[in-house]
Amino acid sequence: MDNVVSLVSRLQAACTVLGDTVGDDGPRQLPSLWERLPSIVVIGGQSSGKSSVLEAVVGKDFLPRGTGIVTRRPLVLQLVHLEDKDAQEFGEFPHYKGKKYYDFGKIRQEIEDETDRALGNKAVKAVSPEPIHLTVSSPNVPNLTLVDMPGLTKVPIDGQPATIVQDIEDMVRKYVTVESAVILAVTPANADLATSDALRLARDVDPSGDRTIGVLTKIDIMDRGTSVRDILEGDTLRLKHGWVGVVNRGQADINSKMTMQDARKKEKEFFDGASNYRHLENVGTGFLADKLSKHLLQEIKKALPSIMASIKQDIISLERECEALGPAVMDSRGKMLHFILKRVGDFECAFKDLVDKGKGGGER
Ligand code: GDP
Ligand code: NA
Ligand code: MG
Repeated sequence: MDNVVSLVSRLQAACTVLGDTVGDDGPRQLPSLWERLPSIVVIGGQSSGKSSVLEAVVGKDFLPRGTGIVTRRPLVLQLVHLEDKDAQEFGEFPHYKGKKYYDFGKIRQEIEDETDRALGNKAVKAVSPEPIHLTVSSPNVPNLTLVDMPGLTKVPIDGQPATIVQDIEDMVRKYVTVESAVILAVTPANADLATSDALRLARDVDPSGDRTIGVLTKIDIMDRGTSVRDILEGDTLRLKHGWVGVVNRGQADINSKMTMQDARKKEKEFFDGASNYRHLENVGTGFLADKLSKHLLQEIKKALPSIMASIKQDIISLERECEALGPAVMDSRGKMLHFILKRVGDFECAFKDLVDKGKGGGER
């Protein structure tokens, strides 16, 4: 089971190597593949808790987060599950090939630096559609590709261009319009849900709700006497795949450097101690991570036949291209082709195995 997801992750990595990214207008050797593989895109209003949710799913502190506009470029985060339980976890940026980051604080620093490199320093509250790619390999993560997006806003703030609101929405829309993107619509429970930017956009690009999961954050700081119990129970604001309630670190917790472990403990205590939520299954970060893994796997299965067809088509055109370009180019690109062919072979075998053995329903 895990194997198939891991192979898909590696295929996706191969595509990234080839420079095939959404929104990239440069040369695209495998134009259709990346977009056909499922990924999870986190959307929502500014400071709704998107980066916190992503971090919680990964179980690691490494994303810039805080009040105001912090995430200013999309971050395409590929999680790779390591089988070896004792393996040390590390991050890697394709823009620093071969350099392994074992210190997740340094990963956050590099995300901030790379954002500044493209956009100038934080004083300029500009936003860029050009994604930062990051791979995190760890025995403690499921195989998932996640995209953290800048937050949707309603009005430009000082120093921002007048077009910023629309620019951000256009950028986010580009990522969630991709048919294979699973949308994590993050909405803070302490705000009016009717005004949720995440829900509005999700409904717009996914009217059937087939690929939208709702996440309610900040349940711990709702007005006394109010609750999102009815939403989590599925009675109001119904979503096909339902809602998951989470509690992440507040700004004070971030300032006091509360660890992820303590944050999870605090979250569990909160839900265990709340009569409104105690009985619910669909609360907590663990539940969310699990749900995401299962969802992704289902999506892969659905997409597989067309993925395989498209890979084969792409390989044929790559082969033609190599032939036409002659021996000089054949060398580097030929190696890549060989690599991809092998991956595709592995992928097909693993998937057939899975289907033949009929263990397709189980999950990690
Ligand atoms: P983003 O802008 O959507 O990526 O949101 P961030 O993850 O950067 O979080 C914005 C702010 O909200 C930070 O100060 C977080 O500490 C805070 N925050 C996020 N989730 C929660 C939550 O569940 N409870 C509380 N109390 N604060 C949260
Ligand atoms: Na923020
Ligand atoms: Mg953010």
